[in-house]
Formats: sequence, C-alpha cells, structure tokens
Amino acid sequence: MSKSKTFYVTTPIYYVNDVPHIGHAYTTLACDVIARYKRARGYDVAFLTGTDEHGQKVEMAAKANGETPLELADRVVKRFQALWTKLNVSHTDFIRTTQERHKHTVQEQFKAIEAKGDIYLGEYEDWYCTPCETFWTETQLLDGNCPDCGRKTTKLKEESYFFRMSKYQDQLLKHIEDHPDFIQPKSRRNEILSFVKEGLRDLSISRTSFSWGIPAPGNEKHVIYVWFDALTNYISALGYPEDKDGKFATYWPAVHVIGKDILRFHAVYWPTFLMAAGLPLPEKVFAHGWWTVEGQKMSKSLRNVVEPNKLIDTYGVDAIRYFLLREVPFGLDGDFSHNALVHRINSDLANDIGNLVSRSTAMLNKYFAGRLPAPQAADSTDQALIDQFSVTIEKIDTHLNNMAFNKALISIWELISAGNKYIDETAPWALAKDEKQRDRLATVMYNLLESIRIIALLVAPFMPETGEKILQILGCDPTDLTLDGQDQWGGLVAGTTIEKASPLFPRIDTK
Ligand code: MSP
Repeated sequence: MSKSKTFYVTTPIYYVNDVPHIGHAYTTLACDVIARYKRARGYDVAFLTGTDEHGQKVEMAAKANGETPLELADRVVKRFQALWTKLNVSHTDFIRTTQERHKHTVQEQFKAIEAKGDIYLGEYEDWYCTPCETFWTETQLLDGNCPDCGRKTTKLKEESYFFRMSKYQDQLLKHIEDHPDFIQPKSRRNEILSFVKEGLRDLSISRTSFSWGIPAPGNEKHVIYVWFDALTNYISALGYPEDKDGKFATYWPAVHVIGKDILRFHAVYWPTFLMAAGLPLPEKVFAHGWWTVEGQKMSKSLRNVVEPNKLIDTYGVDAIRYFLLREVPFGLDGDFSHNALVHRINSDLANDIGNLVSRSTAMLNKYFAGRLPAPQAADSTDQALIDQFSVTIEKIDTHLNNMAFNKALISIWELISAGNKYIDETAPWALAKDEKQRDRLATVMYNLLESIRIIALLVAPFMPETGEKILQILGCDPTDLTLDGQDQWGGLVAGTTIEKASPLFPRIDTK
C-alpha cells in the first residue's frame, strides 16, 4: 500500500474517572465517519481510540470509590468499549495508557528528549487545577480560581522535570503559519496563534506529589505529567520507536480530532514534544465544539448527562449517528434536545430517505413485479438527475475532507430530494397507465433505484446499518461499501429482483 493511500485518525483518549456520555460519543463518531469514508475511497485506514488512565484525577476518583486506580480503569474501560461496539465504531486499535506498550514508548520519548538536552530538572511553584490537570501562573488565575473551569486551584511547589518548550516557540509559530490547515477551524487556529505569540514557558512534565503514573526513567520519585503521557498514545499505538510492524512508518502523521477544551495540549504541547523528538508533526488537529443539553451545560451535578446507551435503545444507532453529525456544524457548539432529535428523525429519516426507498421499491413491485428493468435512452430530466449525482459526489468529497460533516449530509440530502422530485416530475403512476410508455417507465424505475444505490453508499459512513440494509434490498453486496468506482452511474444490474422495502425509520409519535 503506498503511503499516499494511508490515513490515520485518532480520538482523544478518554479519562476513566467519568463514564461515557454524548460528548465522548460525538468525537468518536466523527472519527468513525471519516475513517469509514476514507476506507470507501480506497485508503488503508488506522483509527485509534482508547483511555487515559493515569494522573491525579483518576487516582482521586478511585480512592473515593474505594478501589485501586487500575480496578477503576478496568471497570470503566469496558463501558467505553461496549459503547463503541454498540455505536458501530470501526476503530482498528484501542490503547490504554496502563498497557506496557504505551509505558515503554512514553519512557523512550522522555529519554530521547532528555538526551537532546530539552528536559532538565528544576523546581516548580505554581497553581494547579486538578480537574483540568493544568498548572496556571498567579496572573492567569481568575479570582484565585482556574480560568478554564472556575474551580479552586492549589499552590504546588515541587522538584520537577521541565521540557524546554520555550525553545520551540518560533519553530511552532512558523509551522502554524506555513500550514494554514494544521489547526482547524480557523477561529481556533487564531486562538492558538495568539497564545504562542504571547510566549511559551518551559513546561513542567513530572510530579512527585502522587504516584499513579509512569515513572520518569532513572528517577522513580517522579511520575511523568499525565498530558506528556497521554499525548504519546498517538505514537505508542503505532509501536514507536522500534516500529517492529512498520506501522509508524506507514501511518504517521495523524489527523487528531478533539474537543475545543483540549486544543492547547494538541496544538502547542504535542507538536513541540514531537519537534524535540525530531518527529513529523500531526497532519491536522481539528477541534470541535461542545454540546449543551436542552440549553444547559452538561454536568453530573445538574443530572442532565445524556447517556448514549439509552438513546440508542430508544431511537436506534443510525438515528443518533445521523443527528449528532447533522445537527451542528463541526467546529461549533451545539445543543442537544429531544425535540430536535425527534424532528430530524421524522423529517429527514422517516420522510425523506425512508419514503424514497419505500415508494420506489413499492412502484417497482407494482409495475414490474419487483424485477429491475433495463433503462432506455435518457431524456433531459434523467440526464439532469445523473449529472446532479456526479457534481454532488465531488462536493461531498470536499466537505468530508474538510470535516464538514453537516455540509456533506446536506449535500446527500439534496440527492435524496432530487430522487423524490424525480418521482413527482416523471409521475410513474401516470406512465403505468399507458402501455406505450412502458420503456419510459422502465427508465424511470431504473434511475430511481440506481439513485438509491448510490445514496446508500454515500450514507453508509454516517449510517452503516442503513447503508447496508438498502444495498441488501437492492440485491447488491452489503459488505462492499467501496465508493471508488461504485459511485459511477449505472452500477445496478437489470434483471435483479428487488423486494418492497419495509419502512427504514418508523415515525416517532410526537404527541
Ligand atoms: N484524557 C483527555 C484527552 C487526552 S488525549 C491525548 C480528556 N479526556 S475527556 O474524557 O475529558 O474528554 C475527551 C473528549 O470528550 C474531549 O475531546 C472533550 O472535548 C470531549 N467532550 C467532553 N464533554 C463534551 C461535550 N459536552 N460536548 C462535546 N464534547 C465533549 O480530555
């Protein structure tokens, strides 16, 4: 497989002190859609997710539960893995930071940067926010509290290893300026640019005040800072530095998909660690927005945390996958509301795509006993439909390469509407009444079902079950979701038997 046809996408690794909620599902689903799409376009895809299991926050949560940090992690990791299975997430690897393969890479990375002279031992005195696992200077605090989450900070003074981040300020700035797409969206890129321009301080990368972490090589008193540890997962999963299986050489650099709250770690800390280690920087860091719930911040204390399992049980996995990526432009904040979800299911899924499939297959059964006829010469209405497909497929490709999931879905829905409009314009029920129009009716039916075939392939990265179900109905191979080649008009084979489809998405009663 040539390097140009490989693609590496990562989710953040999730803290195990919290159980999975809709925010976590969102990041992971976005990665899954892009991974599935790239596969359909012929890429060899590595898709990594996992869990962040070290640090004071996890240690404290375990203590509060009366268990060891590893017991907590072992328990919670199963919740994440079960949810990804239920959501049809197609990751190719799952990393836990407590795994030996990861600890090894982190220590090697630490040693390599230290050998270069970019890690030194010093003394640290600053304000620490444990929930955010972040140090702040006195001037950064807001009324003595963490400027990010508003919670109490504590003053810490300890011996610490420092990473010479300041040394990489200019190099990082140049990289961001030379690569306009490195940090997306643009507004986030600007935030990082001003942050870097204000000046980078050296970064404390070890702690002596607790022990739940990876020991600093050669000085067991210190555990490595949880973010130095966590960020390294993106290369430890590839077997760096030994690279016995050649995965690092094949897949690195990655596209990192993250939430806006952890952008600085990914767009400043991580690239400078990589520079110090002499490694290529990530291809892209995309920071998406945050979900509120019915207009409020999601939080345990408000008891409004949206639990994805229940939603999937109620509405079905594809409806949830669709809603999350359709409702809000990727990169902006959005609000989760049950009304909006039900509205999307009824209008976009039950009505638009559901009706197109059931009407078309019903007519084929009524007029041709379910046997797909061969199309005859295309008239201008047919040609307009066919042309719209090729133009729109290109647009969808651009949108997905820009992670504009909602725009890609809007474009797919334009094709669905075009199909429904084609039915109204060609009025097959009228053609059916006239024996002389039999060829015309055959062409119309073929075009309709062929539209549906391509639509099924296009929706499959977003809604894999639905895509497969439709392909099955059409007598196509539901295990072959390749788009390259199969997105060309004319793939359906005349003579195929197609049954009348039952509704894809039952309407939800809103009363
Ligand atoms: N462990 C770190 C990441 C380390 S990556 C090297 C972490 N974990 S987290 O579990 O707290 O968050 C993981 C992701 O979930 C983040 O991208 C975060 O933005 C996302 N979300 C958490 N709550 C969210 C919402 N309410 N809405 C959208 N995404 C949210 O940070």
